[in-house]
Amino acid sequence: MKWLELQQQRKGLYVTHYGVEPLPPEALSERAVKDLPSIVESIRRCQRRTASKAREAIIAIPGTNVVKTLVQMPAHLNEFEIEEQLREQSDDYLPHLSSDTALDFAIQGPSSQRLGYVDVTVVAAHQEQVDNRCEMISEAGLQPKIVDVESFAAIGALALAQEAHQQCVAIVDIGASLTHITIAQAGELCYHREHGFGGRQLTEEIMRHFGLPYEEAGNAKRSHSLPENYFDEVLQPFQHTLAQSIRRFLEIYRNTTDGPEPERILLAGGCANIVGIAEVVMQLIKTPVQRFNPLDTLMLHPRIRASDILEDGPALLVAAGLAMRALQQ
Ligand SMILES: Nc1ncnc2c1ncn2[C@@H]1O[C@H](COP(=O)(O)OP(=O)(O)OP(=O)(O)O)[C@@H](O)[C@H]1O
Ligand SMILES: [Mg+2]
Repeated sequence: MKWLELQQQRKGLYVTHYGVEPLPPEALSERAVKDLPSIVESIRRCQRRTASKAREAIIAIPGTNVVKTLVQMPAHLNEFEIEEQLREQSDDYLPHLSSDTALDFAIQGPSSQRLGYVDVTVVAAHQEQVDNRCEMISEAGLQPKIVDVESFAAIGALALAQEAHQQCVAIVDIGASLTHITIAQAGELCYHREHGFGGRQLTEEIMRHFGLPYEEAGNAKRSHSLPENYFDEVLQPFQHTLAQSIRRFLEIYRNTTDGPEPERILLAGGCANIVGIAEVVMQLIKTPVQRFNPLDTLMLHPRIRASDILEDGPALLVAAGLAMRALQQ
C-alpha cells in the first residue's frame, strides 16, 4: 500500500505525507480482495503513520481488463446523450460491455475524421473492480474521489520527469510479484502489459541459496549483507532474466502494434533499486535506460527524510501520478 500527498507551495512542489505499508500476504489474491478487514487496517495504519489529515482519496485500479478507445459522436449531443449512445452502441467498439461496466469518457474536440462529430475517449472497466477498491477506502474512513487506472497514473507521473513526457518512453515498473510495462508517446498511452515476475523471485532465490527465511532474505537483499558469491550466483542471473523479459516485452510490442519506438526506458518499482540493474538492461536492449524516481526533484516536508524518498521513490510511481491528479483538481 502506497500513500502520497503533494502540495504546491510558493517555493515549489512539496512531498508533505508519504507512507509504504505492507499488506498481509493473503490479503489479495490475483488482485481479488480476500481479507478486507486487514487491508482496511493497513490503510488506517498508513494514515496514522503519515500523520495525514486527508479525508478524500484518489485511487487506481489495475490496467488489465480496462479498455480505452476513441470513438466519434455527433457534435450536438450533450454529455448525458453521449453516455446513452455509448451504452446503446457499445457492441460496435466495446463488445464485452455489460450493464455492470463502469464507463467514463472525455470529449477531446472536433473530429478530424468526421465533419460534425467530436472525438470522444472512452474508458470501460468492470464495475465490481471499481466498487471493491472504493469499499476498501470508504471502510477506512476516506471518501474515494477519483478512481483512476494504474497505467494512466504511471504516465501521469512522467510530468515529474524532465523531458520524458515529450518523448516515447517505456516505463517498466518492477514490483514484488508483477512487472508492468507502459509505453507512452507524449503522455498518451500506446501499450500496456503486465507480467508475473518481480523481486519476490530474487528473494526466493536468496532463501534457497543461503537457507534464509523469507523475511531475512528480503532484508538481506536490501542491506547488501549477503556473502560475496551472491553477486555471481544469484543477483547476476536474476538481473539477466529480468533484462530478457523486458526485451521480450518490447519485441511483442513491436510485433503486435505499429506504435513508436521507445527512445528510453525508465525503470520504476522497488526493483529499480537493485544495484546495476539499469546497466544490465541497457547492455541487452541497446536503448538508454535510467532509474526513475518521480519524487527526486521535489522539496520535502521536514518530517520526511531525503534518504527514504531516495529509496522508496521509484515504488511510488503510480502514487505520484495519482497525487499529481489531486493537484489538478
Ligand atoms: N534496495 C532494494 N534492493 C533490491 N530489491 C528491492 C529494494 N527495495 C525494494 N526492493 C524490492 O522491490 C519489491 C517491491 O517493489 P514495489 O513496492 O514496487 O512492489 P509492489 O508494487 O508492492 O508489488 P506488486 O507490483 O508486485 O504488486 C520487493 O520485491 C522488494 O524486495
Ligand atoms: Mg507495483
